[in-house]
Amino acid sequence: INYTAVVLAAGQGKRMLAGKNKQFLKIEDQPLILHTLSVFAKDEWCAEIVLVTNPKEREQMEELLQAFSLNKEIQLVDGGAERQDSVFAGLKAIIHTNLPVFIHDGARPFVKRELLHELAERTIEKHAALLAVPVTDTIKQKNDQLLSTLDRKTLWAAQTPQSFTFSLIYKAHQKAQESGYYGTDDASLVESLGEEVAIVEGSYDNIKLTTPEDLHKAESYIQNQRKGKEV
Ligand code: CTP
Ligand code: MG
Repeated sequence: INYTAVVLAAGQGKRMLAGKNKQFLKIEDQPLILHTLSVFAKDEWCAEIVLVTNPKEREQMEELLQAFSLNKEIQLVDGGAERQDSVFAGLKAIIHTNLPVFIHDGARPFVKRELLHELAERTIEKHAALLAVPVTDTIKQKNDQLLSTLDRKTLWAAQTPQSFTFSLIYKAHQKAQESGYYGTDDASLVESLGEEVAIVEGSYDNIKLTTPEDLHKAESYIQNQRKGKEV
């Protein structure tokens, strides 16, 4: 099954407190965004990669892609103010509109190929699917002073990729834009059309690098992976 990947890198990485977009931070041997892109470059199911960048960083990104040449062509697209705007810009640039579209955070470098393939298969069946993991914390809801405890068995933490048939996700974004609605992820836009979204149980390793602590987690993860391969 072939798919298209839209990889998002047009954020500012404010919570990383690095004074620059976290996508350019080096983790072990290469910048974060290169770790993420190489997952898709190495996956033979991935037929097309659209990389969404901040227009001000486009040149810097082009130089990076040249320096760390990947075995797949990457189409650069200018992102927008919010993540959702960046996704919509990415969707508009897709050439293979007959394939499932994977929308993925550039800040999630550890997604596994087997899960990408499971996600692609599920998208063919269900039209919309995402990676998610069971919530391990007990989640409390606070309304004014009144606490309640949500049933953990029903709670999932959404990750990316989130995957859709092109026409469905395009329609969802178009409607959201028309009504000025901003969701917290792409699946929520499809949910608000009344469409079902399937869950593919993912891995707790598929973290989004958000805060400085996550950089240490990422480095030790990579080191452990390498040790695992040596033995
Ligand atoms: N993103 C994007 N365009 C935006 C905002 C975010 O492409 N306008 C991308 C980010 O580059 C990131 C992904 O969406 O890969 C997930 O967003 P997040 O982790 O929030 O990254 P940032 O927005 O960059 O970080 P912060 O919120 O801390 O500023
Ligand atoms: Mg953000």
